[in-house]
Amino acid sequence: MSEAAGKVALVTGANKGIGYATAESLARAGATVLLGARNAQAGMTAAAKLASAGLDVHFLPIDVTDRKSIEAAADRIAEDWGRLDILINNAAVSPEHGVPPSAADPDLLRLTYETNVFGLVATTQAMLPLLRAAAAGRIVNMSTGLASLKLTSGRDAPFAFSRLLAYNSSKTAVNAVTVQFANELLDTPIKVNAANPGLCATDLSNGKGRPPSEGAAVAVGLALLGEDGPTGGLYGDSGQVPW
Ligand SMILES: NC(=O)c1ccc[n+]([C@@H]2O[C@H](COP(=O)([O-])OP(=O)(O)OC[C@H]3O[C@@H](n4cnc5c(N)ncnc54)[C@H](OP(=O)(O)O)[C@@H]3O)[C@@H](O)[C@H]2O)c1
Repeated sequence: MSEAAGKVALVTGANKGIGYATAESLARAGATVLLGARNAQAGMTAAAKLASAGLDVHFLPIDVTDRKSIEAAADRIAEDWGRLDILINNAAVSPEHGVPPSAADPDLLRLTYETNVFGLVATTQAMLPLLRAAAAGRIVNMSTGLASLKLTSGRDAPFAFSRLLAYNSSKTAVNAVTVQFANELLDTPIKVNAANPGLCATDLSNGKGRPPSEGAAVAVGLALLGEDGPTGGLYGDSGQVPW
């Protein structure tokens, strides 16, 4: 039996891109997947596509910037499934386009943090009672190599070329948030890690990169970590990524 069989997983922002690929991969591994989306039409269409392939996938409305929507999603999971084994905090935005940090609009920074950081925290807090009700909850926060201070600092750093003030710093905050939750949950079976999917061809990357299924594999690996797996780290294809 696969490690995913019988598990209930929520993926936020799963109507497309890496979130959709993660939902598909977890469902193919045997999980019951709650495909989270803020747009009902897009969410229903995506869930129906996976369900028509015989997978146990259900659309769950969730806008991570809307407290009521998050609470309604948690209530529905409590009523219908009674627990949550896996939470993939995947939903994110990256609205900057070719603007250097010196010219970045603070409102754009606020908007980015609203989804990528505050939405992720609010979703995690709302889902924690359900994750505690599972035997061994797993939380995976979608991050990026662009969040790494080591990989972006200085002229010679591999990602120094990327000057997305709002997006990159919001994901650095996601890394810090990951550590904070992991530390609080150290004495529980719950593991909290951040995933670096690498550059994947989605709307967020303007279609550049590898297939989203390859990035999703990183998140799925962290979602299915065994008891002896790590917590509080950032991981990519080749193992741990420096902060
Ligand atoms: N693509 C890459 O190369 C790459 C690299 C590193 C990390 N990542 C990370 O991987 C994750 C997925 O990115 P992606 O490339 O698949 O992006 P994407 O194709 O743009 O998908 C983003 C998803 O997030 C959803 N979303 C945005 N705001 C939301 C909100 N307030 N509530 C609920 N859902 C919301 C979007 O919904 P709508 O369709 O309604 O907009 C969409 O489903 C993100 O965390 C991203 O930072 C991506």
